[in-house]
Amino acid sequence: ASLQPYNTFGIVARAQTLVRVRSSDDVHALRAHPQLGPQPWFVLGGGSNVVLTGDVKPVVLKMEIKGRRLVQETEHAWIVEAGAGEPWHDTVAWTLAQGWPGLENLALIPGTVGAAPVQNIGAYGVELQDRFDSLDAIDLATGQSFTLNAAQCAFGYRDSVFKHAPAPGSAVGDVPRGMGLAGRAVITQVRFRLPKPWKPELGYAELERRAAEADVPPSPQQIFDWVCAIRRAKLPDPAVLGNAGSFFKNPTVTPEQCADIIARDPKIVHYPMPDGSIKLAAGWLIDACGWKGKTVGKAAVYEKQALVLVNQGRGETSVTGGEVMTLAKAIQTSVYERFGIRLEPEPVVV
Ligand code: EPU
Repeated sequence: ASLQPYNTFGIVARAQTLVRVRSSDDVHALRAHPQLGPQPWFVLGGGSNVVLTGDVKPVVLKMEIKGRRLVQETEHAWIVEAGAGEPWHDTVAWTLAQGWPGLENLALIPGTVGAAPVQNIGAYGVELQDRFDSLDAIDLATGQSFTLNAAQCAFGYRDSVFKHAPAPGSAVGDVPRGMGLAGRAVITQVRFRLPKPWKPELGYAELERRAAEADVPPSPQQIFDWVCAIRRAKLPDPAVLGNAGSFFKNPTVTPEQCADIIARDPKIVHYPMPDGSIKLAAGWLIDACGWKGKTVGKAAVYEKQALVLVNQGRGETSVTGGEVMTLAKAIQTSVYERFGIRLEPEPVVV
């Protein structure tokens, strides 16, 4: 099967076998299957955070588990559950329409509900972990279902237990001790905890500015609309120009390193973190090295946001994963040479 329709970069790659998973029972049936049975599988959600550098040999599990419901409403929160295969943005819009706000800052993020915890998606002052209750998953090795709370997911900046390789010989029961679950488990449902009373999150400067200019305090829908407008202005729509969102994580440095860089580049964009470290805008670093609009084959640095790499081709003429990685490595080298900072890719490179 062609994987081109299933990765937002639009990279041409094939899977030997692609299986659509519509329920937990499908996962169990697959484990028992004589040909497809227990073996390394590759779990794919919306394909919005992967770079495919070749054909995928393991059986690809395309997660299409649907369903959305209110699990519980208490004095302090709404608990809402969605299937891993639900599109993320539609789910955000649906919660707002139901009168359960809290996810509005995360509007318009490409991908699926099941992929959201994997990299702890975050934007405009909110991270998934701030609205997360728990998730259900299946251990691919044993077929056992299990539930993880936020602590067990070990969320970090664009990070979770699902991004780390399992310790050899470990069981899923070890999760609280922080083992990795990459390739080991498949997320089937995610539950969100949307706190009451709702409070707007206006920490991102552009949202704060828009709120200050408005006559009335923003509603959840207003914030949703602003976030959509900001994203559309800065980030390419994958349906028009293939991409995987931010290609690098924003690096953190010590205050001393930061002071050093400021001495040479006073305009560098930096934010103090609660733990005393300083986060730098990777987009700014790449931009400062002159990368906007530069290309390798059909891979290009987006003109309006240097942190995003895009596919300038279409269909058969699409970018290859190799071109994307060559461009990414050249960017890493030039940022390292100028600033002494190693940028880390944000998507999963397969
Ligand atoms: N900047 C430049 N030149 C550029 C790009 C950015 O100077 O080419 C500067 C901007 O002017 C701004 C600063 O860098 O002062 C930060 O830019 P922006 O606010 O657009 O956010 P970001 O750090 O580039 C992060 C997330 C995005 C998220 C936004 C908003 C990461 C890796 N990226 O981007 O997430 O939407 O903040 O919260 O943390 C993603 O993960 O795929 C993603 C899009």
